[in-house]
Amino acid sequence: QPSWRDSRGGRSGGGGPASTSGRRSAADVFGAGGRGRGRGRGQDRGSQGQDRGTASAPASDEDDDAEWGPGQGPRGPDLPPMNPTYRYGDPSLPVSKYRRQILWLVENHAVTIIVGETGSGKTTQVPQFLLEAGWAESGYAIACTQPRRVAASTVAARVAEEMGVELGTAVGYAVRFDNAISERTRIKYLTDGVLLREMMDDPLLTQYSVIMVDEAHERSLATDMLLGLLKKVLKRRPDLRLIISSATLEAGKLRDFFDTSTSASTARRRAALAAAAAAAGAGVGGVGCSEPDRTPAVVTVEGRTHPVQVHYLQQPAADYVAAAVSAAVDIHCEDLPGDILIFLTGQEEVQAAVAQLEEQSRRLAGGRVSYSLRMMPLPLYAGLPGAAQSAVFRPAPRGVRKVVAATNIAETSLTLEGVVYVVDCCFVKQRAYNPLTGLESLLVAPLSQASAAQRAGRAGRVRAGHCFRLCREEDFAQLPKVTVPEMQRSNLVSMVLQLKSLGIDNVMRFEWLAPPPAEAMVRALEELHALRVLDDDVRALEELHALRVLDDDARLTKDVGLALAALPLEPSLGAALLAARRLGCVEELLTVAALMSVPHVWAPAAGALRAADEAKAKFAAAEGDGVTMLNVHRAWRSSGRSSAWAGRHFLNASSLYRADEARDQLLGLLRRHGLLDANTPPPSCGADMEPVCRALAAGQFMCAAVYEGTQYNPLAAESDPGVHVYRLVRYTAHKTAPLKLRIHNSSVLWRSAPPCVVYRSVQQADSGWYEMQGLTAVQPDWLVELAPHMFHRPK
Ligand code: CDP
Ligand code: MG
Repeated sequence: QPSWRDSRGGRSGGGGPASTSGRRSAADVFGAGGRGRGRGRGQDRGSQGQDRGTASAPASDEDDDAEWGPGQGPRGPDLPPMNPTYRYGDPSLPVSKYRRQILWLVENHAVTIIVGETGSGKTTQVPQFLLEAGWAESGYAIACTQPRRVAASTVAARVAEEMGVELGTAVGYAVRFDNAISERTRIKYLTDGVLLREMMDDPLLTQYSVIMVDEAHERSLATDMLLGLLKKVLKRRPDLRLIISSATLEAGKLRDFFDTSTSASTARRRAALAAAAAAAGAGVGGVGCSEPDRTPAVVTVEGRTHPVQVHYLQQPAADYVAAAVSAAVDIHCEDLPGDILIFLTGQEEVQAAVAQLEEQSRRLAGGRVSYSLRMMPLPLYAGLPGAAQSAVFRPAPRGVRKVVAATNIAETSLTLEGVVYVVDCCFVKQRAYNPLTGLESLLVAPLSQASAAQRAGRAGRVRAGHCFRLCREEDFAQLPKVTVPEMQRSNLVSMVLQLKSLGIDNVMRFEWLAPPPAEAMVRALEELHALRVLDDDVRALEELHALRVLDDDARLTKDVGLALAALPLEPSLGAALLAARRLGCVEELLTVAALMSVPHVWAPAAGALRAADEAKAKFAAAEGDGVTMLNVHRAWRSSGRSSAWAGRHFLNASSLYRADEARDQLLGLLRRHGLLDANTPPPSCGADMEPVCRALAAGQFMCAAVYEGTQYNPLAAESDPGVHVYRLVRYTAHKTAPLKLRIHNSSVLWRSAPPCVVYRSVQQADSGWYEMQGLTAVQPDWLVELAPHMFHRPK
C-alpha cells in the first residue's frame, strides 16, 4: 500500500483573471477594419469615426452575441459588427465568452496571444470564430498549427463534426505524408513542420489570412522556427494576422519578441486610419486600414477548472509503471466515480500498464468485494490505430470506469472528458542532443514542474479532482521549473537546411525566440558540409564540388542542396535517396525512405508482443531494417494491399497506405527538381540488395558504428546472448572518448552482430546504453569509397 501525502497548496492549474493588455491608443477606438474581404467593416463605423475618448478592448461578452445583429444592441463603438447568427462551435466553452474580444484584437493587431487552460476551446473554436467573421473569404484560408500529428487530425475531425461538414471539405488537416484537404478547405489544421514545408513553395504563405500557432508553450523545434520566420513574414504582409495560443502564462516573452512597433509604424497607422476616416466620411466607404497595430495583444481566457488536490508518495517508487498501476487500483477500490488518467513515458510502458491493469481488473472481478464500477483499461499513444483511439474519447458506458494509460499526448494536445483522477509518473520521454558527440537520442527525463501542473489540471475538468504524483514532495521540488525548449536539445541539421533553402544563409544571425546553442549550430553546419552526395567511385575533385550540399560560402548548392531541403525527409535519408540515383536503386530507396518516415508501421497489441515479434521475423533480412521494410512492402503489395493481411501481421494498414502516398510524393519531388527522368520508371536494382545498402550508407555514414566485442553478464543464464558492443566510427578521429552503443531489440539485427552498421537513430536506455535503431549492415570499405572526405582506410 503506498502512503500518500497531500500537498500544502490545494489548487493546481486554473487560469488567471480575464485581462487584456496592449497599447490602447485613439487608433484602437477607431478600429477601422474593412480589409476588403466582404466583411463590411468600416462602412457602418467609419462615418461615426471620431475619437471616442478612453478606449478599451471590449470586455468579455457575457451578453450573447446571437441576440444582437449588426448595428444594434450593447455593442460598444469599439466593437466590430458581428455576424448576426452564431452558428458554429460550442458556445458553452470558456473561450466563447471571449469571442468578440478575440475577433476585435485580431482585426486590429498583427499579433494576438491567447493564453488559456487546456480544454477551454482555443484550438477548436477560435478558427471557427475567424471563419464566421469572414477571414476565410476571397480564397483565403485559416491555418492552425499543431506540434503533434495526432492532434492535427483529431481536432480537424472534431471541428468538421461541430460544423456539420465532411472532413476534408471546409475543414481539413495536413500532416507529413497524410492529408485531408481540398481546394475548398477554409480551416486547415496542420503540423508546424508542414507549414514550414509550405513556406518553401510560398515564403509569404499568401494563401492564409490568419495563422494560428497553437500549443506554443510546448516550444517544439518547428514552432520556434516558425515563430522566427513568421516575424519576418509579418513585416512583408501587413494583411496577415498571427494568433499564438498557449496553455501557460508565459506570454511576456512572446509579446516582447513580436513587438515591432516603432514610432514610424505608429505614425503610418495613424495616417492610414485618418485617410480611411476621411474616405468613409466622404461617402467612399470601405477603405480599410491595412496597417495593424504592431504591439501584440494578449487575451487571457479564464478557464473553468475545478480545484485539484495533489498527493505525493511518502517513499520513492522503484518501478513507476507498477506504482502507477497500484495507485490506479487503489483509487478504483475507493469506489468513487470518475475516470482515471495515468501518464507514462512511452508506448511500451503504456502497453505494460494496460496488461497489468487488465489482470488486476480480472482479479477484482473474481474477488469477494463487489464494486459499483467495472474497470476498463485503455491505452493512448500516438501510434494507436484509429479505432482504439476513438474508444478512448468515447464516454464510458454506465457502470464502467475508464482507466486510460497515456503518453505525454494527453498532457495538452488532447482532452479527455470525465477524468477526475490523474496518476503522474513525473517522467517524460524527450529528445536530447549532445553537440560534442553529435548524438541525438530519446531518453526518459524528469518532468518539469510546469508540465506536471498541466497534467494535474487534467483532473479538474468535470469537478474537483485529485492528482497522484509518483514521487516524494521534496523530490518534486527539485524538478526543473520549465521544460527546456526542444531547440536547445536537438540536432539542428534539418532546421539549418530548411532555413538555408528559404534564403536565410546567416543562420547564426536569425532572430530566435531563444537562440539555439552555438555548438549545436556549428555542428549542424559541419554535418551539412560533410553530407555531400557521392557516387560510389570517387570522382575528380571539381565534380565532387558540384555535388555538394553547401558551397564555399556555406550556401546550399543549386541542385543537390536545394533538392535535399525540398525532400520531406530527414537529411540523411534524403541523401540516401539522392545517392540511389547513381546506384540504380531509386525504386527501392523510395520505398525504404517512405516506410522509415511514416510513423508506427508496426502496431503490436499490448498482449501480443511475442506474436508480433514472430510476424516481424518472417520479413527479416540479414541486410538490416531497411531491406526488411522492402520485404514488408512487397508482401503488402502482393496481398492486394489488404487491411486484414496487415492486421494479421501486426502491421498498421493506415501507415502502409500512407507510405504509398509518401512514395508517390517523393517520386514527384525528384522529378520536379529534375533529379529523375519524368518519362521512365525509377531505376531498380532487382533482387540485388547491395546497392540499397550502399545508398543507405551514403546517406547515413555519419551514423556508422563498428562491432567491438560482446559483453557477457557472468550472472545471466548460459543462453544469454550477451551485449554486442559497437563504437561510433567518426569519433575515432576526434579523440573524444569512444561512445559505446548497442543494437535496440526492435532491430532485426538485434541478435546478429554485423561487423559494421549504419543506423538511423539512437535511444538512450535506462541502463545508460545508447541503443541504435533502423540498422543496415555495411562494408567498412564502402564508407571509405562513399565518403572519402570523412573516412580513410586504417594503415
Ligand atoms: O485548445 P484547447 O485545449 O483550449 O481546447 P480544445 O482542444 O479546443 O477543446 C475544447 C473542447 O472540445 C474540450 O471540451 C474537448 O474535450 C472537446 N474536444 C473533443 O471532445 N474532441 C476532440 N477531438 C477535441 C476537442
Ligand atoms: Mg488546444
